[in-house]
Amino acid sequence: MTTPRFSPNDVTVVFFLGGPGSGKGTQSANLVKSYGFTHLSAGDLLRAEQVRSGSQYGDLIRDYIREGKIVPMEVTVALLSNAMAETLSTSPPAAGTKARFLIDGFPRKLDQAVFFEETVCPSELVLFLDCPESVMETRLLKRGETSGRDDDNAASIRKRFHTFVETSMPVVEDFRKKDKVVTVKADLSPEEVSRLVQAGIEARGLLPRS
Ligand code: ADP
Ligand code: C5P
Ligand code: MG
Repeated sequence: MTTPRFSPNDVTVVFFLGGPGSGKGTQSANLVKSYGFTHLSAGDLLRAEQVRSGSQYGDLIRDYIREGKIVPMEVTVALLSNAMAETLSTSPPAAGTKARFLIDGFPRKLDQAVFFEETVCPSELVLFLDCPESVMETRLLKRGETSGRDDDNAASIRKRFHTFVETSMPVVEDFRKKDKVVTVKADLSPEEVSRLVQAGIEARGLLPRS
């Protein structure tokens, strides 16, 4: 048995899942404000690593992202684990409170979920944004007009949806069996989604922090 790097006694981890374009990044901003989460987006961390000078993974990450495939988990888990350690050392939680991490877009594959929970920290809750593909597609094509992302184009979007259905939904189903999932309807206005998200996580005992 390995001991995770962080204990759930000190750290609360919430995984934030949902298809590409379901609104995870958008909703994360609200959750940071209301609940005192540190937001860590696996995709953002991978994109930063892709362009970091001296990274040995730049080309690999670029190829995987354009193809909508899941980057080998060792890379992503190390980025997340190091970002958590960095946050805990630079802004430790107030005495008597736990640090809260909202881990956006991760785990996207079953092996990542198992490896993270065994070696980094077990999760408390999984927030899942449920959104029809047609809505996500419209949003992503629109986002692609300004995002500068290599994967916000029709061909990559199709591949990302395929990966989501085949590889990432089984992660949600696995957590659902463990009764860890809060599902929120995401094809509503950002404000309505935000209200549902808050109600969902408060029902699980996670309370706001100002
Ligand atoms: P994700 O991080 O899940 O891929 P984003 O938060 O980046 O999704 O949202 C994808 C796009 O859809 C963004 O351009 C965002 O502004 C827009 N968007 C997010 N939530 C909503 C919503 N509830 N209604 C309409 N557009 C939204
Ligand atoms: O979450 P986001 O849409 O920013 O992710 C963009 C891409 O980053 C994914 O399509 C995938 O190629 C890669 N990624 C990954 N593993 C994760 C999260 C993202 O490989 N856990
Ligand atoms: Mg995002």
